[in-house]
Amino acid sequence: KRNLKIVTSGQAVPKPVVANQDLTAWLDTSDEWITSRTGIKERHLSDGENTADLATRAAKQALERAKWDPASLNLIIVATMTPEALMPSTAATVQGRIGATQAAAFDLSAACTGFVDALTVANQMLQNPQFQRILVIGAETMSKIIDWYDRTTAVLFGDGAGAVLVEATSEPIGILGVDLMTDGQQGPKLTAGQTVVTQKAPHPLTRLTPLKMDGRAVYKFATHEVPASINRALAQAQVPVTAVDHFILHQANARIIRQVAKRLGQPLVKFPQNIDHVGNTAAASEPLLLDEIIKKGQLKHGETIVLSGFGGGLTAATIILKY
Ligand code: ACO
Repeated sequence: KRNLKIVTSGQAVPKPVVANQDLTAWLDTSDEWITSRTGIKERHLSDGENTADLATRAAKQALERAKWDPASLNLIIVATMTPEALMPSTAATVQGRIGATQAAAFDLSAACTGFVDALTVANQMLQNPQFQRILVIGAETMSKIIDWYDRTTAVLFGDGAGAVLVEATSEPIGILGVDLMTDGQQGPKLTAGQTVVTQKAPHPLTRLTPLKMDGRAVYKFATHEVPASINRALAQAQVPVTAVDHFILHQANARIIRQVAKRLGQPLVKFPQNIDHVGNTAAASEPLLLDEIIKKGQLKHGETIVLSGFGGGLTAATIILKY
């Protein structure tokens, strides 16, 4: 048996903290509106660090805690919707900076669902004995794709990175169930970075479009599809919902988390949250939260957790994991 074990985690956020009140300097909004609609109080916004910088810091922290030689890594996957560049991949940049000379590296693009997809891919790769140690990162600098004068989106997002080191083990732990779903027809409800071609070359370089969102459509998708995805994954794992110790959901909005808890008939105390101090960090959201609860000692070996991501695509993905 080659089961997935999370060995250690790490995280990085940019230093500057921007409170809701700070946003009112240029936006017609209020702390009261943002807090009551989203649960967000403050977020970290980069003043220069890019996605590979944050990813590298998170990776180094996880490697130090595991006391692993970077050269022992076989693969690095970075889930991101805000890569540092189109080329090279953010994962390749991280590989070079940490000296993971023996590791393959690639990025995975699935917006806020990316980290759960990346962990699923890592689990599959571990079935091949050539892959024993994998670094999985979710990293974003959302601040560079936000229209800072659009109050309907600017208040929601933050920057950060979370990393986990996983390896193959024969211990009776690991991924028990997986559910991945996509509804591409709803893609236009949540978009960013679209390139536009309007005329034949030669023409000026195209510019990327900022993030745009139909908030109500995304809310409806998340509150319906996330519980459905969790239930399918639980059924596959043959784990009753009452046996889940922690539900680690993508931190998009505290109201979505409350609604999912209600639909699953589970107490909110099983749903750890950090959205109040980091905001929505897309693919970094779940590894950041995972790292927080691991460091606080809230997550114990042998516990059963649900990891569920959702977002652009539109996509949703759930893993049932015995930690
Ligand atoms: N400050 C003050 N007022 C605002 C703000 C703001 N930042 N943003 C919007 N408003 C106003 C609107 O203009 C509107 O005014 P109007 O009634 O005069 O037209 C009013 O507040 C209500 O706007 P709604 O969009 O209806 O607000 P809603 O209650 O739907 O909340 C929200 C918006 C929080 C985005 C909600 O739709 C939501 O939770 N959507 C889920 C999507 C989400 O969280 N996405 C995160 C990113 S995607 C992802 O990670 C999956």
